[in-house]
Amino acid sequence: MEKIIDETIQGETLAKEGIKENNRKLFIESYGCQMNFSDSEIVASILVSEGFNTTQNLEDADLVLVNTCSIRDKAEQTIRKRLEKYNAVKKINPKMKVGVLGCMAERLKEKFLEEEKIVDLVVGPDAYKDLPNLIKEVDEGRDAVNVILSKDETYGDISPVRLGGNGVTAYVSITRGCDNMCTFCVVPFTRGRERSRNPQSILEEVIDLANKGYKEITLLGQNVDSFLWYGGGLKKDFKSATEMQKATATNFANLLAMVAEAQPKMRIRFSTSNPQDMGEDVLHIMAKYKNICDYIHLPVQSGSTRILKEMNRQHTREEYMALIDSIRKILPDCAISQDIIAGFPTETEEDHQDTLSLMDYVKYDFGFMFVYSERPGTLAARKIEDDIPLDIKKRRLTEIVKLQQEHSAYRTKLFVGNTFEVLIEKESKRSNEQWSGRTSQNTVAVFPKENYKVGDFVNVKINDCTSATLIGEAVGYSENN
Ligand code: 5AD
Ligand code: SF4
Repeated sequence: MEKIIDETIQGETLAKEGIKENNRKLFIESYGCQMNFSDSEIVASILVSEGFNTTQNLEDADLVLVNTCSIRDKAEQTIRKRLEKYNAVKKINPKMKVGVLGCMAERLKEKFLEEEKIVDLVVGPDAYKDLPNLIKEVDEGRDAVNVILSKDETYGDISPVRLGGNGVTAYVSITRGCDNMCTFCVVPFTRGRERSRNPQSILEEVIDLANKGYKEITLLGQNVDSFLWYGGGLKKDFKSATEMQKATATNFANLLAMVAEAQPKMRIRFSTSNPQDMGEDVLHIMAKYKNICDYIHLPVQSGSTRILKEMNRQHTREEYMALIDSIRKILPDCAISQDIIAGFPTETEEDHQDTLSLMDYVKYDFGFMFVYSERPGTLAARKIEDDIPLDIKKRRLTEIVKLQQEHSAYRTKLFVGNTFEVLIEKESKRSNEQWSGRTSQNTVAVFPKENYKVGDFVNVKINDCTSATLIGEAVGYSENN
């Protein structure tokens, strides 16, 4: 499954200091998950080689690209509104070309060109290397589409242009696609089959980031724990690999250890984990290496075994709870977050209560909660009627969100009075005299700047908190600095 749709960055336009010789202007905007933001950095890298520079100014753009998300209907509606805005600008600047990338491109394919008259270019998540050809087509006045999904494309050989970041934290993609086939989810259709990236190229990217001064990386994939490299190829074809390939394969625990060992000062995060694929081996590696952060995003979707089965999640409520117990035992300080869907078809009040009681059991640090949105083409859309009325879905969601707020507040308070290592990422939004960073557990902490700077690892004594933010003061550099 895909991680966290961070509402604060939706539609963010990312741009970066340009290359002098490049004179065409690219405006690139991203929606959806971290993987989409990471993909936009790959797209920017490809287009910089094609003579483009990025711009933050829509009116100046020669080429407008929007990297889209299909996860819920609301995401698609937001993007359609943006396309209307581009259309208005295009009326003033008819030379401007508009392209749709990502999951909506893959889902709607040619339909986009027919329905949205302003779109010139449609490119699916595995076809970005074809952009130079596609742009040529568009330059010559033809529409261009490539939505072919790939068995082996991982963009492992492309060095992403780090857009708009803080120079401290970066994403490194390790797997693409998803084979889980959760019945509610559009991702297997928009991002294709699961494949892993060559660990050597992952390692090279991480070392390059370290040399450039980055201090924290997040290894990204729809299902990172399922990472498996045996010389290339789809995860589902591993069964027919040679004995040699099987014996020398790299799994996620191996990869984590490799990266942690190669860069002992780099903080390492990963996302997203799927309960059925997360093994104790990964937990032991997390315990062994101090630089792997104490944080696991572990979507549960529902606390009812019956609903989990309808969702084709490969675990029961009890198995999920057993995994939580293992995490607590092996990693007592580990923060855990969830994704939950309210109002999946056939969900009863009792199923909903099961979700609330599971939440009580785990007391998640953070959560990302949604009402069920039927996605065309998914197994659920084909097989089960979307039978829960919207008002009931919304009421259940409200109850889930309220409970999560209580749990988050409870977890945040537990930090108060103790000292934690914080990596400084940026100025606090509230005050230009304060830094903002995160603990290993991913909780945001703010504190007076003093003489510290962005990218420093600082020990922060936590004196107070709001429901989601720790408030403290620095007591010195941490030993990692
Ligand atoms: N409706 C609502 N939420 C969904 N998610 C995925 N598909 C749907 C859908 N059809 C949620 C899941 C997933 C997160 C990224 O989005 O909780 O983990
Ligand atoms: Fe990411 Fe695509 Fe899923 Fe949206 S639909 S969350 S962009 S994988």
